Amino acid sequence: MSASLEQTVHAALTTVIDPELRRPITELGMVDSVEISDDGRVRLAVLLTIADCPQRGTITADSEKALSGVAGVTSVEVELKVMNQAQRDALKEQLRGPGDRRGIPFNKPGSLTKVFAVASGKGGVGKSSVTVNLACSLAARGLRVGILDADVHGFSVPALMGITQAPTRVDDMILPPVAYGVKVISIGMFVTGNQPVAWRGPMLHRALEQFLTDVYFGDLDILFLDLPPGTGDIAISVAQLLPNAEILVVTTPQAAAADVAERAGAIATQTGQKVAGVIENMSYLEMPDGSRMELFGSGGGEALAGRLSATLGADISLLGAIPLDIRLRKGGDTGSPIVLGKTWTPAATALADIADKLAARPRGLTELKLGLQPR
Ligand SMILES: Nc1ncnc2c1ncn2[C@@H]1O[C@H](COP(=O)(O)OP(=O)(O)O)[C@@H](O)[C@H]1O
Ligand SMILES: [Mg+2]
Repeated sequence: MSASLEQTVHAALTTVIDPELRRPITELGMVDSVEISDDGRVRLAVLLTIADCPQRGTITADSEKALSGVAGVTSVEVELKVMNQAQRDALKEQLRGPGDRRGIPFNKPGSLTKVFAVASGKGGVGKSSVTVNLACSLAARGLRVGILDADVHGFSVPALMGITQAPTRVDDMILPPVAYGVKVISIGMFVTGNQPVAWRGPMLHRALEQFLTDVYFGDLDILFLDLPPGTGDIAISVAQLLPNAEILVVTTPQAAAADVAERAGAIATQTGQKVAGVIENMSYLEMPDGSRMELFGSGGGEALAGRLSATLGADISLLGAIPLDIRLRKGGDTGSPIVLGKTWTPAATALADIADKLAARPRGLTELKLGLQPR
């Protein structure tokens, strides 16, 4: 067997990416052994993180495909093994850094992740639909995006993203499923069936904290938190656990809805958080003759942005107004977000425009407080 065949085989293996960890298996210590016979037969042993790894089929197929494309390789045999505890510990340490007291990665000095907490006054205004579409739109342009569905009582993100797969657990590390390039974790993935979750404040806080510390998102550009409606326990917990999270307030154009949403945004004065902007949803319905029917009134988003600007003493803008769109609702029902579709309806365009604005916002480090005093 020639040294060069060994090199090309190894090079081919670096193209095999673990679907959940999103890194080459060669970097993750997952290649246990490679045997190449003189006549070009390759036997590869791959170490899975856990025995019932849901990605075993994908990893096998991707390895076979990568190796059988190498000139000189005549056959490929992939054997799956499982990491022992020491190997798993080494992998976890490689991914998360050393130490048991890890804390929340997004709060570490030097974290570049922009965290947006999507809030609303009341339910049903389209908070989750907006979150999912913004996340998919940003991931589609190559950003590394995650969603944490923190709406414990009304989780809906997995369904909106068409995710049925459960997260993989590697000991205390939870690997979020990926859909449309977005890493998604939801309380809904930890309950069986469609059971309601009856957790109270302290438990909610612990659940959120565990999500933020134990879920391995890797390096993200943007993390969205889909909050429950209102100014309840989770909103306070988010402020405590992720003080740098910026709030995105979603409202309908209705004056009453904007009033309730103002409370969700104004909580930022108490928590010291920033409000990234206001998004108006369900702004109007386009009629067959091209006219606009303002089903829920008009001006709520603009009015809310104005009032929040006055309350918070900052310039809070209306980032966009999304019309009612049957295709948006259908896309949610079928787990295929409208921003990824082929037809650029006004709603999809409005969502993509808002995503543009979020992508253009400065990220983490630029806002690090450097401890400098003004002269
Ligand atoms: N712009 C829109 N056009 C049509 N239907 C929408 C729109 N925004 C949201 N919906 C629908 O309204 C319902 C509530 O939306 P959802 O995102 O679950 O709201 P929330 O998370 O605020 O409770 C869903 O059925 C969703 O498909
Ligand atoms: Mg929701």
